[in-house]
Amino acid sequence: MAKAPTKKQKQDDRQLIRVFDTTLRDGEQAPGNSMNIEEKLRVAKQLQKMNVDVIEAGFPIASEGDFEAVKLVAQQIKGPQIAGLCRAGDKDIDRAWEALKYAGDKGRIHTFIATSDIHMQYKLKMEPAKVLAAAIKAVKRAASYTPNVEFSCEDATRTRLPFLAEVVEAVIDAGATTVNIPDTVGYTIPFEYFNIITYLKEHVRNIDRAIISVHCHNDLGLSVANSIAAVQAGARQVECTINGIGERAGNCSLEEFIMALRTRHDILPFTTNVATEQLTPASRLLTNITGIGVQPNKAIVGANAFAHEAGIHQHGMMMDKSTYEIMTPESVGLSASALVLGKHSGRHAFKQRLEELGHELDDDKLNRAFERFKALADLKKEVFDEDLDAIVMEESREDVKYRLGHITVTCGSFAVATATVQLEIDGEPVRTAELGDGPVDATLKAIKKLTKTKAKLVQYNVGAITSGTDAQGEVTVRVAEGNNVVVGKGSSTDIIEASAKAYVHALNRLNLRQKRLKETV
Ligand code: KIV
Ligand code: ZN
Repeated sequence: MAKAPTKKQKQDDRQLIRVFDTTLRDGEQAPGNSMNIEEKLRVAKQLQKMNVDVIEAGFPIASEGDFEAVKLVAQQIKGPQIAGLCRAGDKDIDRAWEALKYAGDKGRIHTFIATSDIHMQYKLKMEPAKVLAAAIKAVKRAASYTPNVEFSCEDATRTRLPFLAEVVEAVIDAGATTVNIPDTVGYTIPFEYFNIITYLKEHVRNIDRAIISVHCHNDLGLSVANSIAAVQAGARQVECTINGIGERAGNCSLEEFIMALRTRHDILPFTTNVATEQLTPASRLLTNITGIGVQPNKAIVGANAFAHEAGIHQHGMMMDKSTYEIMTPESVGLSASALVLGKHSGRHAFKQRLEELGHELDDDKLNRAFERFKALADLKKEVFDEDLDAIVMEESREDVKYRLGHITVTCGSFAVATATVQLEIDGEPVRTAELGDGPVDATLKAIKKLTKTKAKLVQYNVGAITSGTDAQGEVTVRVAEGNNVVVGKGSSTDIIEASAKAYVHALNRLNLRQKRLKETV
């Protein structure tokens, strides 16, 4: 027979904050962050490693692609619960469960409806009584599939408090085991949010039968502070995303929230199950997949987050790290760039290092990645972890319409730049040559001509992955067609090739995005 929990266990459980990651749903909704099914699974595996409590894998009714991704994550991920979002309607809920049922009792239906006057009047065009009835009906239907039901009052922070309390009480009676109070438009401030959660604890009769969750957007830059205030008031689930990606200014950043709790445990006596050493790998994985980097001064995962430049700071650090370091780089999984492999390293060492970095490749992809590593090691004296990350990211891209073949460029101070480019389009080789204003321009023009794309290149950046003149160049491009904007990334020791790879990557993502939009309900 299972032992009754001890007083300490009960106390610990009361202080445990469940981490609900919505990178694959709210995060992925943001411009430029769309991911294909393979990429979503890779992120989900990293979240599993990080030990988050809940992974919101998508919005199953939104498109075929979203449905398949939620289903795949529900089938493959063990450990965290898997949530799927749905509006408060029968079809949405049924479709969500169709995808989530593969997670068994770890599947969570997350249904929502807006409760603020603004949303009810202008968006839903529904009276409050109708909204309340729809919420109850939705939760009852979801609870007929699983006891693991979360209900969200969209725009809760602009909802009249008595109505918010009425809805929350009713959905708990209907079977919701988690009630989410989102700051949908990033409008609240910590003091006010604390009071909203306190009000619900005091005015909702059955509030002890559900976990209070919070979901903060960052429009005023307060999402992490608001989440902490809510936890202090009694919320026990926090919804967040890696790198804080999400609609508009994004969501509460997972790494910032987690490290705030850990670093200030003296006054925030809460715990989470998150393995903090997985924070940097998660951030890098997401950046590599979406091509959208974080700003250098971003807390926890920015390039400068642990850099000490000023002499006075460096002096203090040499005396004692606690002078300017409130957490260690190791605690967030950051270690100095390590020289890992050279041109004499074998396939076995290569595979082992990739596994240590969290990359799992099937045999085909591993072989291709190894060939690229050998070619790179011939060009470059030292191969770093970041180089390996870049190789793996490019080799694990799937679902591609365009593949880059060869590029030949002639250019010079007195020559007109000419590029000859060979591509494969749906497996068929095609080739053309173009003149340009410099070798990058000529190369991209040739690709544009071959792919017949109407997309515009709106941004082009080049940087180096590691230090040294033999470093791989990393090119990031932003390409737009109508309202669709995508980012592409490419790396190579040759920046013309890196530019071509980045452009082809962006065109593949644009193609995928357009395909998904056609499928969207
Ligand atoms: O911001 C929001 O209100 C949401 C809900 C659907 C939870 O994302
Ligand atoms: Zn949201």
